[in-house]
Amino acid sequence: MSEAFPNELTPAAIAAAPAEAASANFDRIARLYRWMEYASLGPLLERVRWHFLDAGSLDGACRGLILGEGDGRFTARLLLRNRGLRAEAVDGSAAMLRLLKQRCAFAGDRLSTTHEDARRYQPPPGFDLVVTHFFLDCLAQEEVDALAGRVARDLQPGALWVISEFRIPAGWLEWPSRLFVRSLYFAFRCLTGLRVTRLPNHASALRAAGFVPVAQHLFAGGLLTSELWQGPARNL
Ligand SMILES: C[S@@+](CC[C@H](N)C(=O)[O-])C[C@H]1O[C@@H](n2cnc3c(N)ncnc32)[C@H](O)[C@@H]1O
Repeated sequence: MSEAFPNELTPAAIAAAPAEAASANFDRIARLYRWMEYASLGPLLERVRWHFLDAGSLDGACRGLILGEGDGRFTARLLLRNRGLRAEAVDGSAAMLRLLKQRCAFAGDRLSTTHEDARRYQPPPGFDLVVTHFFLDCLAQEEVDALAGRVARDLQPGALWVISEFRIPAGWLEWPSRLFVRSLYFAFRCLTGLRVTRLPNHASALRAAGFVPVAQHLFAGGLLTSELWQGPARNL
């Protein structure tokens, strides 16, 4: 496991990287994260995360890259369902990765973890599945654009990318949704120091990286989306 990413960014480290905002620190809330989620939205986010996994859409995958994985609930379910899959989980929070390893101990030989800022992470070649659940919304638009391009470069042809995200629906739910998303960003800013304040357009980033949308399922009147994208059949 790589431990290159420091738990606390020192002022010197921040000053050395002026073009990139300091990463949010989810260590403080790692243990509480699941309970905060259940208290605010019940089992809804789990339904969104599990959607394509439980539908069998990811069953053919052999090597999964899970970015901003968090406490490992998705990876555990993925490893349990797909006994042939090897997973690499990347997260900037050491505390989240500890929870993930505990939760996935039953398949420790099929799991590797990398403690690193995903904005600097260069995946090794060969993944045929990428997973980002409620992670791209921790990044600014240009960071999502760069990440998608970097990740896409060495994937297997036709690789899948499964995404869960908040979104702003059109219609009468638009303004309540905007208010809700804004309050979530405010809460995460207070709890983790997250600097991002608006949802990036991950669709434009994925399209620019050569992915095409395969399927989408909306939840809660369109406030939440579960999406499946596919990379080019041949490497670009
Ligand atoms: C909102 S949580 C989502 C966790 C989980 N994927 C889920 O579905 O709930 C965001 C996760 O991304 C991680 N994270 C945020 N910014 C990151 C970055 N720049 N690099 C790596 N991990 C990051 C956090 O540590 C946290 O585990």
